[in-house]
Formats: sequence, structure tokens, C-alpha cells
Amino acid sequence: MAEDLLVNNGSKTEQYQSLLPQIAALMEGETDTIANLANITAALKEQFGWFWVGFYLVKNNELVVGPFQGPVACTRIRKGKGVCGASWQRAATIIVPNVEQFPGHIACSSLSRSEIVVPIIRDNKVIGVLDVDSEKLSQFDETDQHYLEALTKLITF
Ligand code: SME
Repeated sequence: MAEDLLVNNGSKTEQYQSLLPQIAALMEGETDTIANLANITAALKEQFGWFWVGFYLVKNNELVVGPFQGPVACTRIRKGKGVCGASWQRAATIIVPNVEQFPGHIACSSLSRSEIVVPIIRDNKVIGVLDVDSEKLSQFDETDQHYLEALTKLITF
């Protein structure tokens, strides 16, 4: 397995199209979920330089923070709370162009200004979410949604 990530400097679509096969290769033959989630967050951080990127996993009916890259974050989030809890409850991706305008947004950092949360669904149940935060407003769009949803489907749990 090659551990060096090839960072792409093209359009957002090109960046995802370069990154996803590399992430798939990183996970190939590795069944340890924490190891895979850790490498995914590192790869996303390296390619996109986002402020915070990480996983929250459902444990005992709460989201508990998992592998991430970025500043320390809230440890536990209840269903329906914040963007992560709302994505879990709705079993749907949520794009927040301006976190100040999302009622109940949980500000782990005051520097975070926009966010996307993608649910990880297995057997019709949300088992966790992928959360990405940016210091820029309106950082995320349907392209991020498309590729991040595809990415969550690649992960073995
Ligand atoms: N902002 C998130 C909480 C998680 S942190 O951003 C890492 C939310 O509202 O659910």
C-alpha cells in the first residue's frame, strides 16, 4: 500500500476524483474501522485543507466523536442537536452555508463559518456522520455532497 497522498490542484471535482480512488486504495485489505476513518480524515485534510474534518459515531444513542483532523471538538452530540444531530435524525446530508443561520448549531469553534454533514447509513440506519467545517462562508455545495456521500459508502464497518 502506498502511503503517500498525491494532492491534486485542479477543480473541486478533479480534486475529489483524484482523492477518492486513493482513499479506496488506502483502505484496501484493511478491516479496522478506526484505522480507516483516521486515514480518511488525514487524506481529506491534506487535499482540501479544511478547518475541521472528522467522524462522529453512534454509540448508545448518542454521537461520539471519532477520528478527526483539526482543533479539539465536542465529544458527544444528542440526536436532533446541532447540524450533526439533525443529519442523524433526518438521515440526510445537510449543507449549512452560514452556521450562524442554522438554529441550534453547536459551535465547537467560533472560527467555523460553514459546514456539511453527511450521514453514514448501513442497513437503513445512521451509524455515524462525516462532519466538515470551514472558516469560509458557503464553502460546501452539491459537488461536496455528491463525493462525500460516495466516500461514506466506501467505508467498511
Ligand atoms: N458544528 C457541529 C458540531 C461538531 S463540530 O463542528 C466539530 C454541529 O452543529 O453539529
